[in-house]
Order: sequence, then structure tokens, then C-alpha cells
Amino acid sequence: MKLIFLGPPGAGKGTHAENLSKQYQVSHLATGDILRRHIREKTPLGIQAKDTIERGELVPDTLVNQMMFAEIQQVKGGKGFILDGFPRTIGQADALSEFLESGKMKIDAVVNFVASESVIIDRLSGRRVCPQCNRNYHIHNIPPKKEGLCDRCGVALIQRKDDQPETIRHRLEVYHKETAALVDYYKKKKWLHDVNADREVGEVLAALKLLFERLKISL
Ligand code: AP5
Repeated sequence: MKLIFLGPPGAGKGTHAENLSKQYQVSHLATGDILRRHIREKTPLGIQAKDTIERGELVPDTLVNQMMFAEIQQVKGGKGFILDGFPRTIGQADALSEFLESGKMKIDAVVNFVASESVIIDRLSGRRVCPQCNRNYHIHNIPPKKEGLCDRCGVALIQRKDDQPETIRHRLEVYHKETAALVDYYKKKKWLHDVNADREVGEVLAALKLLFERLKISL
């Protein structure tokens, strides 16, 4: 199973990719999480990417492509992967196609998480994340069992720097300028499937499972 999760920031790509990857033991390759790991570990890539991410801009294609191809190559067991947040530009999508073809790999589907702007802003401003395991919560929609603490690790949850109102607005602009064109790009390839992501988590998950059944994607 090889999937691409596409959609604006806050649409729920990470939440559902994490759910599905745990349930079906496939790799969840989230560009944002991997970049933030590089920042925490102060790798040369992390040092280069830190300010760009905090401003809500996109990290240059060459850096992201290299990083993601290395991650895909490390996927073990042949069960597949979910790409969450990659590709995000036409340049990245072209490079990914070339990379997959050279490895005789094929994407089963591109899931486009469609969410309205008011829902996105509410979700991102209420998001809290575990700095240890990257699990996402929302202060109202998906609260942790103990306020402010990760259910899994017990560590204090944090708010991402790029989840401040000004940066959220900028990330949405960047999405429309750089990433939204991928909807048509994958529509032309007939790989694109829209999912209404404005609904609650259980409903979105059920819609995703129905879609996989319809497409005969084995998880
Ligand atoms: P990244 O971390 O990928 O951020 P993003 O795409 O902006 O996506 P988000 O993580 O904000 O949203 P999501 O759709 O995953 O939503 P989530 O599930 O968390 O990227 C960060 C930065 O890294 C970029 O700005 C850029 O600088 C850089 N970068 C990343 N990829 C790059 C690339 N390919 N090229 C260049 N640069 C790149 O949900 C959001 C909140 O809503 C959570 O609180 C969650 O609990 C809640 N929620 C989710 N679903 C529901 C639901 N159905 N009902 C209620 N609440 C929900």
C-alpha cells in the first residue's frame, strides 16, 4: 500500500496517517515531523530548515526530495507507506514520480483532504503536540486524558511555533500558491480521491476505509 495524503495544513493528514499506519503497520512518512526531528537533533538539514519552517515557508525542493527519498528507501517489510506532506510542489511531484519509477514502485492513490478554512484555523490554533512521539491532540476536539500531558509518553504537550495565527494564515497562502496545483496534477493522472475532512475523526476514518475497499487497496 502506497498512498499520498494531500491537503491544506490542519486538514487532518497527520492524524489519519498516524491512525492508519498504527492499525495496518505501514510506515507514516510525515515530512513536517521528519524536518522537526532534524531541527531537534541540530543536523545540518535541521539548522538550514529551522527558520523557514517557523516562518511557514516551504523548505527548498532539493533538500526535501533528498530527505524523503532516503526515508522511502528505508521502509522495510514491503507493507508500504503513507506520504504525509510530500510532495508539496510540482517540482517535488515530478521528482517523486521519477524516483518511484526508477525503483519500480507505484502509488495506489492520492487522498485529497478537503477542509474549509474556518475548520482549519480552529484546528491549528487548538492543536497541541507531544514533543517526544509527535502525537497530535486538540484542546477541545481530541483532548488528552490528563490536561496538557501526552497519553502515551506523559510529557508536557507543546504548541508548534508555526501554529500562531499570523503563521497559520501565511501557511494557507503558501498552500494555495505552491501546493493546490497538485490537485489538478494528480487528477490528470486519475489518482486523486477527495475526502471531506470537515467531519469528525471517526467519520473521516470510515470514509477512508470505504475508499480503500472501493479501490481494492489492501492494507
Ligand atoms: P507539516 O508538519 O507537514 O504541516 P502541514 O502540512 O502544514 O500540516 P499540519 O501538520 O499542520 O496539518 P495536518 O493536515 O497534518 O493536520 P493534523 O492531523 O495535525 O509541515 C510543517 C512545515 O514543514 C511546512 O510549513 C514547511 O515549512 C515544512 N515542510 C513540510 N513538508 C514540506 C515539503 N514537502 N516541502 C517543503 N517544506 C515542507 O490536524 C490538525 C489538528 O486538528 C490537530 O490538533 C488534530 O488533533 C485536529 N484534527 C484532525 N482531524 C480532526 C477531525 N476530523 N476533527 C477534529 N479535529 C481534528
